[in-house]
Order: sequence, then C-alpha cells, then structure tokens
Amino acid sequence: MDQYTLIQKAFEAQKNAYTPYSKFNVGAALLTKSGEVIYGANVENASYGLTCCAERNALFAAYSRGLRKEDLVSMAVVSNSEPAASPCGACRQVLSELMPMSAPIYIANRQGQVVEMFVSQLLPFAFTKDQLK
Ligand code: THU
Repeated sequence: MDQYTLIQKAFEAQKNAYTPYSKFNVGAALLTKSGEVIYGANVENASYGLTCCAERNALFAAYSRGLRKEDLVSMAVVSNSEPAASPCGACRQVLSELMPMSAPIYIANRQGQVVEMFVSQLLPFAFTKDQLK
C-alpha cells in the first residue's frame, strides 16, 4: 500500500476522534505486514491529562490484538493543522519501543503536506528497555 492510500485511511480514522475539549482531531493508520490497516483516533477526557493520542491508540490496538513490532510497517498521522501536527513526545517514546526504529511515519494534513520521518529521526537517543538491565 502506498503512503497516499495510508494517509487516506488516517483521514478515515480521524472521523472517530473524540475531542470535546480541544476540537483538534487527529487520525492514525498503522500498516501491518499482512496489508491490514489498524486505525487510531485521539480520545479526550474531562480530566485532560487522561487524553490518549491517535498514534498511541493505534499502536495499543495493534498490540492488544497480539501484533508486535516485527509485524508493523509504517504509520500515517493526519490532522487539520498547518504545518501538519507532529507526534508529541509521549507518542515518540511509545513509537520508539513498539515500532521498528526504521519504520517510516507519514505526517500529513488536509492541505496535502506530507513529512516523512523514520522513528529513529523522531526520537534519537531514545530511552529503551535495554537501559533497564
Ligand atoms: N494529539 C494527538 O492525538 N496526536 C498528536 O500527535 C498531537 C496531539 C491530540 C491530543 C489532544 O486530544 C489533541 O490532539 C490536542 O493536543
């Protein structure tokens, strides 16, 4: 599946965002090796800090189904902002553990901008589970 198709899937996911507080809707589409796409949208809460971003919701959905990093190929993340909204720090940490560091992340918006970055570029010098030893 090409990046533009995956970005379209992320726009589909964005429709399910639950954002009564920020009204800032984000969608994520995670491509698996089998060609399946797993959707994520941001879900907010009246206790604001409990909000979970679209990227983490997509990844947690994949892991909840038993998929692991070796099953994951790439992710598209979309928003309506200009420039396109880049994954937050918390999501970068989770991406760095749950996706291959070499996986491309396509950051896009409604205006047609696409920024492509590898997970390793989004979070260089990441804290990893190897440091827990
Ligand atoms: N948000 C995401 O879902 N992903 C990002 O990469 C940036 C921020 C959400 C969290 C919150 O619901 C809203 O966008 C505003 O911060």
